[in-house]
Amino acid sequence: MSDRLKVLAISGSVRESSFNTALLKAASELTGSEFEFEFYDGIAQLPIFSQELEGTNRPKQATDLDEVIRATDAVLISTPEYNGSLPGGLKNLLDWGSRPYANGPFAGKPVAVISTSTGRYGGARAVEATSDILRHIGASVLNDRLTVASAQSKIDSEGVLRDDITKRSLAHIVERLRDLAKFGVAA
Ligand SMILES: Cc1cc2nc3c(=O)[nH]c(=O)nc-3n(C[C@H](O)[C@H](O)[C@H](O)COP(=O)(O)O)c2cc1C
Repeated sequence: MSDRLKVLAISGSVRESSFNTALLKAASELTGSEFEFEFYDGIAQLPIFSQELEGTNRPKQATDLDEVIRATDAVLISTPEYNGSLPGGLKNLLDWGSRPYANGPFAGKPVAVISTSTGRYGGARAVEATSDILRHIGASVLNDRLTVASAQSKIDSEGVLRDDITKRSLAHIVERLRDLAKFGVAA
């Protein structure tokens, strides 16, 4: 690991003016030069996972995903909650990232999961469901979580986070993710 911590930011939303993507952008802007953020934007191009597309049939979109995850020190996922759970596109990404079994790119990878929603629980069930899947596929999931309720009152129409408490919580999550990546535990 170099001095700078590479963080791969994955939004569970493909919406142009997504609040979750805005939250990831805010995280990258709030944190210091010790972090190097990269944004993954291939979620909509991933084919639906099929076991027939494994091994030598694995599509390029999936091998590209493998490469970016394996090359990063840590992953920060911000996902919307759809119908009490995570969106299908993110689940599909995690299915790809779970293979080959026990040796997929998420195995052992430090990951933090956050969510914002327009509802009053801030996507808590999406964070829970996403974290469960990540643990199942062997990721090292940060215990701390951030859920931001009423996104529309904290993120403006330009996608800029305007809420100071959320800013502090977000910076804290990224620092904890750094500790998890550097020391194996977030003390
Ligand atoms: C299909 C669908 C299901 C949704 N289900 C929930 C839900 O279960 N809980 C919730 O808090 N918000 C729910 N919402 C509202 C989302 O939180 C809101 O649309 C949010 O802005 C989506 O995130 P994004 O801005 O990052 O795209 C749902 C929205 C859609 C389109």
